[in-house]
Amino acid sequence: MAMHTIRVTVNGTAHEAEVESRLLLVHFLRDRLRLTGTHIGCDTTHCGACTVLVDGEPMKSCTMLAVQADGAEILTVEGLEKDGTLHPVQEGFWQEHGLQCGYCTPGMLITGYALLARNPNPTEQEIRHAISGNLCRCTGYVNIVKSIQYAAARLR
Ligand code: FES
Ligand code: FES
Repeated sequence: MAMHTIRVTVNGTAHEAEVESRLLLVHFLRDRLRLTGTHIGCDTTHCGACTVLVDGEPMKSCTMLAVQADGAEILTVEGLEKDGTLHPVQEGFWQEHGLQCGYCTPGMLITGYALLARNPNPTEQEIRHAISGNLCRCTGYVNIVKSIQYAAARLR
């Protein structure tokens, strides 16, 4: 198996690593960097539990090879909190009970964060469209939408 040297910045920290061609980004994040907040729910690009930001864009990290991330800036759920203070999107999920089992939550948080970065005042429909690639089997989505609306109001 061919090996490649990649350089990535994850949550503000630079990393250089040797990776196999076939290594998925989600496995690199979880198994090599021990950033296990990024979840694996399906491995088939359906659930969105593995969503991270790659150069500011939400990506399903089970669908991307680690070598494809070479040179990229990556944000995982662990990078949202700063100095012990939750990001407003995390605060929103806390305040509005936007989770039950929590399995989908890292992907929802990252997707919500990315939405608010490009659209600070989304409509409910825009929020629902943004999270349409993230599946939640518990909440019925109502409180997830409220959580992102809470974060939008806090960020304004
Ligand atoms: S684990 Fe990546 S989309 Fe489900
Ligand atoms: S809170 Fe359980 S899958 Fe969303």
